[in-house]
Amino acid sequence: MCGIVAYVGPRDARDVIVDALGRMEYRGYDSSGLAVADSGRVEVCKRAGKLANLTDLIEQVGPETLSGHTGIGHTRWATHGRPTDANAHPHVSADGKAAIVHNGIIENSAVLRDELTAQGVELASDTDSEVACHLLAREFNQGDNKGDFLASVLSVINRLEGAFTLLFMHADRPGEIIAARRSTPLIVGVGDGEMFLGSDVAAFIEFTRHAVELTQDSVVRITADGHEIMDFTGRAITGRDFTIDWDLAAAEKGGYDSFMLKEIHEQPAAVRDTLAGHFDGNRVLLDEQNLTGADMRSFDKVYVVACGSAYHSGLLAKYAIEHWVRLPVEIEVASEFRYRDPVLDSRTLVVAVSQSGETADTLEAVRHAKEQGAKVLAVCNTNGAQIPREADAVLYTHAGPEIGVASTKAFLAQVAANYIVGLALAQERGTKYPDEIREIWAELEAIPAKIEALLTCEQQCLDIARGLGAIRTMLFLGRGVGFPVALEGALKLKELAYIHAEGFPAGELKHGPIALIEDDLPVVVVVPSPRGVKVLHSKIVSNIQEIRARGAKTIVIAEQGDDAVEPYANWLIRIPQTSSIMQPLLATVPLQFLAAEIARQCGNEDIDKPRNLAKSVTVE
Ligand code: M6R
Repeated sequence: MCGIVAYVGPRDARDVIVDALGRMEYRGYDSSGLAVADSGRVEVCKRAGKLANLTDLIEQVGPETLSGHTGIGHTRWATHGRPTDANAHPHVSADGKAAIVHNGIIENSAVLRDELTAQGVELASDTDSEVACHLLAREFNQGDNKGDFLASVLSVINRLEGAFTLLFMHADRPGEIIAARRSTPLIVGVGDGEMFLGSDVAAFIEFTRHAVELTQDSVVRITADGHEIMDFTGRAITGRDFTIDWDLAAAEKGGYDSFMLKEIHEQPAAVRDTLAGHFDGNRVLLDEQNLTGADMRSFDKVYVVACGSAYHSGLLAKYAIEHWVRLPVEIEVASEFRYRDPVLDSRTLVVAVSQSGETADTLEAVRHAKEQGAKVLAVCNTNGAQIPREADAVLYTHAGPEIGVASTKAFLAQVAANYIVGLALAQERGTKYPDEIREIWAELEAIPAKIEALLTCEQQCLDIARGLGAIRTMLFLGRGVGFPVALEGALKLKELAYIHAEGFPAGELKHGPIALIEDDLPVVVVVPSPRGVKVLHSKIVSNIQEIRARGAKTIVIAEQGDDAVEPYANWLIRIPQTSSIMQPLLATVPLQFLAAEIARQCGNEDIDKPRNLAKSVTVE
């Protein structure tokens, strides 16, 4: 959702913050802004639109403004109020001295607005966030907390309902920033004589590897010399120190045109690193032992909850777990889960899949599952994020930071991790013999090299995309594990190229969607291996013929050596041979390249930041 950053130290706060906003822009790009405090004044610069608009404005106002060593910054994904200059953060109090930035939603903002308005405060924006700076100014300027920055902040945050990370700055307290977090992320960066705050470590990775994760309902006060952490009453508590294990290069494009293309090319490593350490030659190993062997044997049902691409990875978990473990698996979009009153108890395993570990829908599903007594295993790419923290156990994917809003390498890493969960269950419950598990593991381990080889299809995908001409709609068909791949391909195209796209099980086509087929409609077909379930392969070949007969242009993804599909493909993309269940880890890759290039052909140059989206969706 929004990205926030704070700096206190000897450097020029403006430069540190603008750079940090650049690395966090993927969290939201409706507007951006920063405030710098020094010698009794707060200066603010903010602009609707992408960060480039803000940097242009900073250039216009000149380097002498915004100079100082204490600052806060924000990049916004709009919730309350349109993406305008006025609604951009930071928000500043009427006396011009208190400034805040906010990520989350203040649910009781309407009541607080009314209260402030009744007291004569004029609010300048339509946001829920702005109330916080006026409340801070009121506390700081009068009453029991007069002149006491920390007491004023504590008083304000205890009046707020909802989810928030708030950074508070006051002109009369330069050299000091106070932050509070409830249900949205905030990480402290500990430098040498300088301190940072960020929604994620990308905010300060350039300057320090030493970070501190804060627990729910934490307040932190930073100065150049250090930090103190407390709860919402001001009682001292501790955070968890950790070392950031990726470097600045991971958060930069490294010569690629976009983060997305870089991340597609990083997929062999993402899958390899996710598998690493989870098989010792005999046994599959999970990261944490909070789920005991007895737990694993006790489950009578599995739910997978996730959103977007993570949900598609969950669909594949269903295929794998039901096939390998013979345990029923339900997969549910996280935002629907708790409202439907699913049947959960201590014998239910809930697998929550989330790249960011912040997605509010998935987090609430986790909380609901735990309340009902289920055990929760998080599959997550972000160390120490809220979802893994609240889960009983966690299996980390090691895709590295994913900056492109469209998920690519994190998706493949999720599929690999879900398969590790499936194999661990099969092993513990004895539904697969050790030699069968070894065989499946060997197939998994062979996947990174196969993805590597497949990356050479990039040029072919570009040519296909360019040859398609104008597209209004595109369909994606698959059968078996090819169906989630079709859904993922359609999602990529929708979010990047803004084209209507839908994924269907190929067999379902004749029950309605075939009416959409018209001359030249492009249809992607993910063909299962002819070496797998034979009948499935021959049925999809028939499906391709059916749509070709009605004028569709087919882009067929089929494994090397599958000659039967050749006569029916307008374009044929070959993928390396693998077992059926592993095929999604390969078949997805050309669909990512296709979506990226079709987006470009449609004039969307900035594929890392598709319109209306944000990388982490921290509101329900
Ligand atoms: O961080 P999460 O994995 O929980 O995010 C879930 C979805 O928001 C995410 O996969 C989204 O669908 C991507 N933009 C898809 O490319």
